[in-house]
Order: sequence, then structure tokens, then C-alpha cells
Amino acid sequence: MKQDTRMGILRQDISAPFAPDRFGMRRLPAHVGSVALPFGSGLPSCLDMLVKLPGGDCVVPEPYRSNEAIRQFLETSFAHEDGILPGWRESHYAYLTVDQRVVLEGASHRNGGWHFDGMQGERYKTKLNACHQYVVSDKLMTEFTDHPTVATGLDELKHNWFVELGRQVPEDAPVFTPDAYEIMLMSAYQLHRSPVAKPGQGGLRTFIRLDISLKQQDRLGNTPNPDLPAPFEFVPRNLPAGLSLPISDSGWSGGTKFGPC
Ligand SMILES: [Fe+2]
Repeated sequence: MKQDTRMGILRQDISAPFAPDRFGMRRLPAHVGSVALPFGSGLPSCLDMLVKLPGGDCVVPEPYRSNEAIRQFLETSFAHEDGILPGWRESHYAYLTVDQRVVLEGASHRNGGWHFDGMQGERYKTKLNACHQYVVSDKLMTEFTDHPTVATGLDELKHNWFVELGRQVPEDAPVFTPDAYEIMLMSAYQLHRSPVAKPGQGGLRTFIRLDISLKQQDRLGNTPNPDLPAPFEFVPRNLPAGLSLPISDSGWSGGTKFGPC
């Protein structure tokens, strides 16, 4: 798939309301740029932490603000977003996830099953334009598949979408893996997974995601930004009973609560 084709599909994805039939298109993430230096060690983790309000500036708390590699990632991603979605700074939220942990051999860092980020289910009866994410990691890079899937007819209250779509991807489907420190842009329709560390591949891994979204990511457990209070309440948002499945990752224990929040 050529780069311009990827970007064309992405532009269409993010410029229209979430629509399950778009999972039926063959797609891969687009290359955005690269981070030129290591993320370092000792970073706290945060999950979907609000870093920009519609119409506001990007507000990143310490210790992320002083981290040159994270600054490069954010600057590159924001500049790219300006190019593909003019006006987004007035309309969209941005959320930062930093997940730095030791990955154990035989386990994945994050969700090792095929899934997508940016579900719009029952809560969004009127669908919003699709979320999209900039992602980067320093080892054991996120894997992507271009295998089309059928999501039409799936019901969030009756089906686990990740299981239903993941089972449509054959075991031998080609897997696309970016380079270390390569920033990729994917839309809510892009199936991806965190790879399982083989013998010799374990160790400290840093994963960073910037989610550009029209949603208020108010799930209880998301990390509050000590320098940018959220204008919404955090509430429990669990999957319906029976649809929530354990994932075999390296034990995410939640984002760190840091700062005066
Ligand atoms: Fe994901």
C-alpha cells in the first residue's frame, strides 16, 4: 500500500462520523516522522491524560514536559495534525498516554490481541468524527494488520468487538511493524496489537500515544493532568458483564497520580 493511499484513507476516516463499515477497507497506519533520541528511564505512566482542550494550548506536566524525546514526539504529531485536519485545534481534545514498563518474555507490554482504539458505542448514539492516534515505541513496536474485517451488525452490548474482529484476521495474515522511534498515525479503524516478547526480547519498553479526539475521555482510571483540570467528571465506564476479557500483558497497574491533583 503506497503512503499517499494510506494518508488518503486516513483523511477520509477522520473527516466523517464513526462508521463500522469502514473496518472493511484494507488499511495501514501512515508514517509521520521519527523521534531522534531515547525516552530515557524512570518515566511515570499516564493513561489518556488530557493535554489539550478545544481552543486551548497543549499543557504537558512534568516530568514529561522536560523530556526532549516526548517534546519531539508531540511537536511532530501536532504539526502533522495541522496538515491533515486544519482547524482541529479549535474542535478537538488531545490525550497523552505514556507507558514505560519492563516487558516480560512471553508477555506483551499492552493489549496483545487485535483491537482498535476509538470505539464509539452506545454512549455515542450520534457518532462523532473518528478518533485517531499517533503512536511510537522504542522496542517491540506495535504490530498492524491491513486485513479487512466486517463490523456491520455488531452490537456493543452483545459483542466484544475486539474478539469479533480479531477472529477474522487469519493467523498467517501479513503483519506490518514500524521501526523503533518511528511515529505512526492510525485511525479508529486500524487493527493493531502489542507483540509478545520472545526469549531475549524482554526489558524496559516505552510506548507513547497521542489521541486526537472529539470525545471527553472521562473514564475513571484515566490520569488527571495536574496542570490542566478536566472540565468533566470521571465516571466508571466498564464493558457490559460477560464482554470484558482479561488481556495477557505485562501488568498495567494504572497511570501514576502525580502532582497536586
Ligand atoms: Fe491500542
